[in-house]
Amino acid sequence: MKIIKADNYEHMSKMAARTMASQIALKNNSVIGLATGDTPLGMYRELIKIYEDEELDFSNIKTFNLDEYYGLNIDNENSYYFYMMNNFFKHINMRKENINIPNGMTENIEAECFSYDKKIKASGGIDIQVLGIGVNGHIGFNEPNTSFEVGTHLVELEKETIKSNSRFFNSPEEVPTKAISMGIKTIMQSRAIMLLASGEKKAAAIEKAVKGKISTAVPASILQLHNNVTLIVDKAAGEFI
Ligand code: F6R
Repeated sequence: MKIIKADNYEHMSKMAARTMASQIALKNNSVIGLATGDTPLGMYRELIKIYEDEELDFSNIKTFNLDEYYGLNIDNENSYYFYMMNNFFKHINMRKENINIPNGMTENIEAECFSYDKKIKASGGIDIQVLGIGVNGHIGFNEPNTSFEVGTHLVELEKETIKSNSRFFNSPEEVPTKAISMGIKTIMQSRAIMLLASGEKKAAAIEKAVKGKISTAVPASILQLHNNVTLIVDKAAGEFI
């Protein structure tokens, strides 16, 4: 695992955006895996700047998001679809048909999950997958003790995750308790992975992910077995590594 220690959140975001921009410049039809949450917001802002200043072309880029809440419509402002549109896609020249986010309103979960993984394969596989990490070590919404062998699937969110995500909702009761998430197997099939973490609340999870035993108790620890992972942390998140 290649570890890059950034000075702070802005620095981490700039380095992450530069990595993505080079990927896109080198391969204009890259398949990119994206994450939501607080962590990649700065990277999206930087990428939008690079797009505007350097005319980075997203028109042939395909994206696959890690996850979506189960039961939230795309026009619900807490849906990850809404987040992606607002924070990134509407600012760049992505084609709508190249954007893939699990359908949280599906009536057939199994078919949705199966076809999501199938579509990733059919598009040639993910060239680079962006990941954040939960304080419990989750990646995507693969909570502790999820099998490493599963593809995209429906997950029950842990109490801690619901609590942490409730900051975006009016009350914790409004946070969906389930989500559709790429599985660890899907994530591990990406050709490259870029894991981002910022802030002291992520330091323990990062330490376990990087130096701890590889175990489903810390889903991110599986990344030790991937041959092309770049971890970009700020000083606080990288304190113990
Ligand atoms: C988001 C995702 C999650 C987050 C993680 C960290 O698509 O899959 O694994 O990356 O929960 O969230 P933040 O960045 O809000 O701390």
